[in-house]
Amino acid sequence: MRYLVTGGAGFIGSYLCEALLDAGHSVIALDNLSTGRIENIEPACLARPGFTFIEGTVRDEELTGRLVDDADVIFHLASAVGVSLVVNRPAHTIEETAFASEVVLNAALERNRPVFIASSSEVYGKGVSLPMAEDDDLLLGPPDKGRWAYACSKLLDEFLALAYYREYDLPVVVGRFFNTVGARQAGRWGMVLPNFVQQAMRGDPIVVYGDGEQTRCFVHVSDVVGAVIKLMNRPESYGKVYNIGSTDELTMNQLAERVRSVCGSSSPIEHLPYDEAYTEGFEDLRRRVPDISRVRDEIGFEPTLTIDEIIRELRIYYSKGGGNQ
Ligand SMILES: NC(=O)c1ccc[n+]([C@@H]2O[C@H](COP(=O)([O-])OP(=O)(O)OC[C@H]3O[C@@H](n4cnc5c(N)ncnc54)[C@H](O)[C@@H]3O)[C@@H](O)[C@H]2O)c1
Repeated sequence: MRYLVTGGAGFIGSYLCEALLDAGHSVIALDNLSTGRIENIEPACLARPGFTFIEGTVRDEELTGRLVDDADVIFHLASAVGVSLVVNRPAHTIEETAFASEVVLNAALERNRPVFIASSSEVYGKGVSLPMAEDDDLLLGPPDKGRWAYACSKLLDEFLALAYYREYDLPVVVGRFFNTVGARQAGRWGMVLPNFVQQAMRGDPIVVYGDGEQTRCFVHVSDVVGAVIKLMNRPESYGKVYNIGSTDELTMNQLAERVRSVCGSSSPIEHLPYDEAYTEGFEDLRRRVPDISRVRDEIGFEPTLTIDEIIRELRIYYSKGGGNQ
């Protein structure tokens, strides 16, 4: 099969490209290197037969159309990513998420190519119930808070994808990723785990935002990539939304402790108010836990790596000079 992976030089995209190549497929990765990096696909993909990297934006309709022409299936992962980027650049976020997805979905529709859309747990917003299930109502904050521009854009991606499925029979699958982690993830856009591990390894204070009692569930990127490929391989997934994540809930204070312990670090743990970390009036949610029964029942999805194993992997990755951003 020939796959097009948008955002293929990004964190998750690079692992997806690698897994598709491992399975004997050919892959074209399209990425504008805004938050992605060539290092993510070098040497994992670049030197391998069947892999092509194109530097460019999915918003270039002619380019995206041409690449979709040459692909059997599209994985659309390109997007504005990272809380600090999203909060500070809401216009860029909407353009690079909702507008970009429209180009990809239109190109797929014109050629009737199956598309996977990478959405986010952010669409649950502040959440109305726990665990968060795909059919839940969604509770977003007001439009003057940049964070919700991302949630809204991802939600619009979902609406458009499902509308194309219902009205035009376009095969689409939507995956809502919950805190996905692993080597190659950049920390500079506000991702918590790369920052904690690098701070611990340097002996710097581990900086926890807010009071640290907010919770998240972390899943390894290899588990996410495996699920995404399985979902796209079965027509029964078409037209559906799937939560993809772990249900092991940790407070950020607990995460900081785990990082300190696994890294053998004596870094102090410090707290920084949200207003200083992001922007005044920043809204966060206290708990985020997915209901993964749909993906578990349908494809047998089960996260395989514990948080300690993931932290250990990151420690090795950074000690070999990886990432560091
Ligand atoms: N990592 C997570 O925890 C998480 C959680 C929820 C959703 N997601 C979604 O998963 C996808 C991948 O995220 P990631 O964590 O790998 O982040 P990432 O920033 O590493 O990957 C996004 C990639 O898209 C590229 N890109 C952005 N705009 C582009 C454009 N217009 N044209 C071409 N390329 C473009 C970036 O350069 C980057 O390589 C995104 O859609 C993101 O919203 C990730």
